[in-house]
Amino acid sequence: MTTTITITGAGGQIGYALLFRIAAGDLLGPDERVRLKLLEIPQGLRGAEGAALELQDGAFGLLESVDVTDDAGVAFDGTNIAFLVGSRPRTAGMERGDLLAANGGIFGPQGQALNAGAADDVRIVVVGNPANTNALIAAAHAPDIPSERFTALTRLDHNRAVGQLSTLLGVPASEVRDVTIWGNHSATQFPDVAHATVGGRGVPELLAERFGGEVAARAWLADEFIPRVAKRGAEIIEVRGSSSVASAANAAIDHVRDWVHGTQNGWTSVALPSDGSYDVPAGLVSSFPARSVDGAWQIVRDLDLDDFAAPRIAASVAELVEEREAVRTLGLL
Ligand code: NAI
Repeated sequence: MTTTITITGAGGQIGYALLFRIAAGDLLGPDERVRLKLLEIPQGLRGAEGAALELQDGAFGLLESVDVTDDAGVAFDGTNIAFLVGSRPRTAGMERGDLLAANGGIFGPQGQALNAGAADDVRIVVVGNPANTNALIAAAHAPDIPSERFTALTRLDHNRAVGQLSTLLGVPASEVRDVTIWGNHSATQFPDVAHATVGGRGVPELLAERFGGEVAARAWLADEFIPRVAKRGAEIIEVRGSSSVASAANAAIDHVRDWVHGTQNGWTSVALPSDGSYDVPAGLVSSFPARSVDGAWQIVRDLDLDDFAAPRIAASVAELVEEREAVRTLGLL
């Protein structure tokens, strides 16, 4: 079997990290051949062409072909999996309206091109920021693609939360289950450990043991854990001198691999169009706890949200509602 995979922004940093993982079989496994289509804007084409040369030099057994183009129609034709990485992220002094308008100019046409040419089973993950609202815009321009095929990446936030717990509690990351990122992939996100477990024991109980009571554990969550996870991107920039790249590509691989092959080890976090669950307005692309069953995401339902969680989720969802209103006002939906 061969899967056609499109990567936008393929000449950039995350694209560079993604391509080699995919070609090596980390996304779909050792039996699935891949065709790569790299989409760039004209000024990014040389970067993507260079990456294509290096892919050739990797002599990957699973890699059937690599095409580089600046034409979205060509890039999305027949695509089964689309990583939408290229975007116009916020830069210093940029107004929100300008940011959203610039991204509307990217994700509206890309949604249309996906609608026109993608394979019937297409799965889309938006990595480029503001990821949730970019996914919303793309979905709105692709009326023939079921909206739940448009997702945005909060798996990096999820993995960051798991990594923090694993280090604190001294257990392998694979033993930390059922963490949730709620809301927007932004500083308002809510990393939630209320239902998380390690080795069958509740994380809240383990934290209370560790910090000497529930009150101290909650203070650690509010003052240390949540801001550390939500602002980890800024920490990486400060320490590394450049934004998260390999961890972002890794998370994008995790997201799509679980979507295609099914979630292992509990649930994960995915930003996808709300079906109204947990009072998140229908259609809003918001992060939820989700499992992939038979190749489709299913939101984990009926979790109890206490007075620690509910207002934090509501605050992040309110930010998404504002972003949606802003793009509506700009005529981008
Ligand atoms: P980068 O600047 O190295 O690469 C972006 C590439 O996208 C550039 O080569 C640029 O030419 C290309 N591009 C811009 N507009 C395009 C368009 N319309 N079509 C095709 N390509 C286009 O940036 P990097 O580090 O690769 O990050 C990419 C995006 O991912 C950024 O928006 C960043 O904020 C976001 N990001 C999201 C994360 C998440 O967890 N959701 C984590 C880390 C980064």
